[in-house]
Amino acid sequence: MRTDTGQVFKLEDYRPTDYLIPETGLTFRLSPEATRVTAVLTVERRDGVAASVPLVLDGDGLTLGRVAIDGQTLAPTDFFATPDQLTITTPPAAARFQLLIETELAPAHNEALMGLYRSSNVYCTQCEAEGFRRITYFLDRPDILSIYTVRIEAPHHEAPLLLSNGNPVGSGELADGWHYAVWHDPFPKPSYLFALVAGALGKVADSFVTLSGREVELGIFVEPGKERLAGYAMDALKRSMKWDEEAFGREYDLGVFNIVAVSDFNMGAMENKGLNIFNDKYVLADHETATDADFANIEAIIAHEYFHNWTGNRITCRDWFQLCLKEGLTVFRDHEFSADQRSRAVKRIAEVRTLKAHQFPEDQGPLAHPVRPRRYREINNFYTATVYEKGSEVVRMIRTILGAETFRAGMDLYFERHDGEAATIEDFIKVFEDVSGRDLSQFSLWYHQAGTPNLTISSTHNAAAQEFTLEIEQSVPPTPSESRKRLMHIPLAFSLVGADGKAIEYSGVEGASVEDGVIHIRKRRHMVRFSGVAERPAMSLNRGFSAPVTLSVEQRADDQFFLAGHDNDTFSRWQAFNTLLTEVLISAFRQVLDGRQPGFASRLIELAGKIAGDETLEPAYRALALALPSEADIARDIGKNIDPDAIFSAREALTVAIAEANREIFSDLYDRLTDKDEFRPDAASAGRRALRNTLLDYLSLLQGGAALAARHFQSATNMTDRAAALSVLALRHNGSPETVKALADFEAKYATDPLVMDKWFQIQASVPGPQTIHAVRALTGHPAFSMANPNRVRSLVGTFSSANQTGFHRADGEGYRFFVETVLQVEKRNPQLAARLATALRSWRSLEPARQGKAREALLSIANTENLSADLRDIVERTLA
Ligand code: PHE
Ligand code: ZN
Repeated sequence: MRTDTGQVFKLEDYRPTDYLIPETGLTFRLSPEATRVTAVLTVERRDGVAASVPLVLDGDGLTLGRVAIDGQTLAPTDFFATPDQLTITTPPAAARFQLLIETELAPAHNEALMGLYRSSNVYCTQCEAEGFRRITYFLDRPDILSIYTVRIEAPHHEAPLLLSNGNPVGSGELADGWHYAVWHDPFPKPSYLFALVAGALGKVADSFVTLSGREVELGIFVEPGKERLAGYAMDALKRSMKWDEEAFGREYDLGVFNIVAVSDFNMGAMENKGLNIFNDKYVLADHETATDADFANIEAIIAHEYFHNWTGNRITCRDWFQLCLKEGLTVFRDHEFSADQRSRAVKRIAEVRTLKAHQFPEDQGPLAHPVRPRRYREINNFYTATVYEKGSEVVRMIRTILGAETFRAGMDLYFERHDGEAATIEDFIKVFEDVSGRDLSQFSLWYHQAGTPNLTISSTHNAAAQEFTLEIEQSVPPTPSESRKRLMHIPLAFSLVGADGKAIEYSGVEGASVEDGVIHIRKRRHMVRFSGVAERPAMSLNRGFSAPVTLSVEQRADDQFFLAGHDNDTFSRWQAFNTLLTEVLISAFRQVLDGRQPGFASRLIELAGKIAGDETLEPAYRALALALPSEADIARDIGKNIDPDAIFSAREALTVAIAEANREIFSDLYDRLTDKDEFRPDAASAGRRALRNTLLDYLSLLQGGAALAARHFQSATNMTDRAAALSVLALRHNGSPETVKALADFEAKYATDPLVMDKWFQIQASVPGPQTIHAVRALTGHPAFSMANPNRVRSLVGTFSSANQTGFHRADGEGYRFFVETVLQVEKRNPQLAARLATALRSWRSLEPARQGKAREALLSIANTENLSADLRDIVERTLA
């Protein structure tokens, strides 16, 4: 475990290396306890660097065997080695030499899941960000691009399959039942994209013919026997390849593209060149075991990793500060892909919900950092919603500002200009400035400045003068280590909506530049005056969520209702309805705190019924609209002095009120939506299931609700419906005989399917209320649970601590004590996973004082633990700062 050294890495300290490694040869002699790695590196001294400059290579916990230069084994005085560094003190005078390094690894004992490790008897690797240095000493940084040739040797019966990056170039038998394979990747790549897989795996094979007519062999490798679960992933892969050709003109570049699914993985998946490695959760699916959400995630993540081939691999990052260069851009690309494959409006609503649920709290709490950070202690902790999701929103804003065509021209120029390079955000911005002739310097603050900007907006209509005026003020709240903020360029899409739901035409505008329905806010204050506006419009603002900002708008409730029912843009309609719901929930929360029974305006309750039954709207949209803001959403909008129990009561009261008032509409619709056709995972079918399951949630709160949910569970013919019913039973009818039976049936049926058991853990960890901690503690001892497997840990512990407001934030602090114990326990094996779990307390300062005190104690007790990993110390100290 890499313990904290207190070292801080700074963007301004970037300096190119003195040496390059144009070629890398690796030989692996695989064995669980003692794998021998022989690295043969072609090292080149850069022009102008003196021969006396030592060569310093990164390592992490390595055991060194032999070191040789140009065939000569080095004497101990010629180098200096620790587990974390190898220094060649006096390199040869020649500008180019060959360095051989032997290291020995024990993949079977690698539980951090970085470097070379074992997952269910399969050898696999994870090198991003700094895992390659756990395999051999190297210049382990993304601006060192090298051409790799990899030879893998293993016993045939243990590892019939030997994979690495690039194209297979040789294979054969060796003595004693061993065999070997050689792979060559012609594209220079950074070490973080290196991968190796060896083991006994089943293969699903297919092929794809590219734009220019080249045939690519596709393979998806899974645990033997699970091949039929990879069909959807393969289909998604082929659609991704086609889409990237059509939407971005990007063609695949190797003869093979392989994907391997493993069951122990810290993240979702990894884009290693030509050999993507996936968390099996994002590959394996059929209707019996996967939900519609799982199918959608698989499609998105397969696409995401594939798209990295151009945005990340062909053009990579100069250093880890540039992480958003590949991640934000690639998320933007996968969002667009999913929008094209499914429903654009529904996809956008889901994206915005995710952004607000994950990125907003990060940006508004102690872990806030710019999309492109300037410093870090542990890079693993920067794979965040800010880098990924906000990073994607920034790319989207560039397209909004430039228009789709110019944006595409900029992307084309980016690929042309930087292919084969390790680039920066400045390079990225420059291509768009060059194709558009615009100055994007103020805009680029989106990359450099943390925090969610706020826009305060009010309006006046002067009927006599036919003038409508928007008064807009921007502010960016202070964030850690950035107390003073500069003014941002915020593209605010808007519409002035008339009584017929359509946009009102205006004859002129002054006070800000307004183009194609977008107000460009660049100053602190704008008075934007529209002339020729006879009728007072309703303001529809931040349409399509054109900018990731919060709004404080003075808007009449009537207007908000009108937009929620009539805005001609589906996304905006959702946004208006969601704003209404949030306002109502916040006032209900205050009523609960005052000891009153919350009351709700009937027109809001009726509007919910109207939306449910509106056949002109897609079912998936109706399901999203009816899903009330989550407890965490409400807490975020309240901002401080959070009492999770009061939020829960307020939300529950609104749910019951909506259900009671709309019982007939909901139950008719629920019956009509019963699906008699064979299961299909497409968006339209999934949307109908989503709506029906949302209705079930409401109806389950009425009389006979538990029985209804139990029937839904029993008659389910797919996992979406079964898991939805189980969740309704557990969350709404905890402890009822129906729930007890359903949980037991589910467990009996899926006991041997870990990915399905994850849903069972997750549902039980989500049950609201103070008693859930006991269930969660007990489940850590369940035979299907394991503290060593990230998926299990996230399903049970992660869900409890980051998605169960009333359970985790139990008033007596018991949830926090459990949190401390498990985080420290997980950390011993897997520091990266522990650090991620620890972010569950990032919003502790917005809790009411008593809980706040207990949360702080919990964080302090972790901080006061000796020998913490760099990962965990970094998170805990920033959270407390
Ligand atoms: N680069 C991966 C992705 O987003 C994420 C990842 C990061 C995976 C670090 C593993 C380790 O596509
Ligand atoms: Zn990515």
